[in-house]
Amino acid sequence: MAIERTFSIIKPDATQRNITGKVNALIEGAGLRIVAQKRIQMTKAQAETFYSVHKERPFFGELVDFMISAPVIVQVLEGEGAIARYREVMGATNPANAAPGTIRKECALSVGENSVHGSDAAETAAIEIAQFFSGNEIVG
Ligand code: GTP
Ligand code: MG
Repeated sequence: MAIERTFSIIKPDATQRNITGKVNALIEGAGLRIVAQKRIQMTKAQAETFYSVHKERPFFGELVDFMISAPVIVQVLEGEGAIARYREVMGATNPANAAPGTIRKECALSVGENSVHGSDAAETAAIEIAQFFSGNEIVG
């Protein structure tokens, strides 16, 4: 399988509970490398752009408000089949349905406050990485 890069966000519920290291340990324990990382306060415009695919969903306003409620960690992860691998490591969107050992099972609070984001395809990974990182900030 090819080496890929995917985009990750450690969400406000995790930064607020001071468990970003726990999340990173699960990422690294799964064989993914953190090749870029920074802590930012997302603006409303950034969050609306980032989640624009969900703009017609009833929870969109709640999702945007949550994403700007506290700092987040944006990351680029690299590894074999990193996009699908990270989705496995994250676990199901709703932590109640997530498998044991996944980030969402071990860390998330609810379907909204679910600790992490990961890209769902190669095209979205490229777009999401470019929204938050310039090329020289990613060092593999
Ligand atoms: P992301 O990696 O964050 O994109 O999660 P996902 O791909 O597992 O789920 P999806 O793209 O379907 O939804 C995006 C995000 O919207 C989820 O991670 C949740 O944070 C949020 N979300 C989804 N469903 C609900 C819901 O019913 N209520 C609320 N409040 N938030 C939701
Ligand atoms: Mg998604």
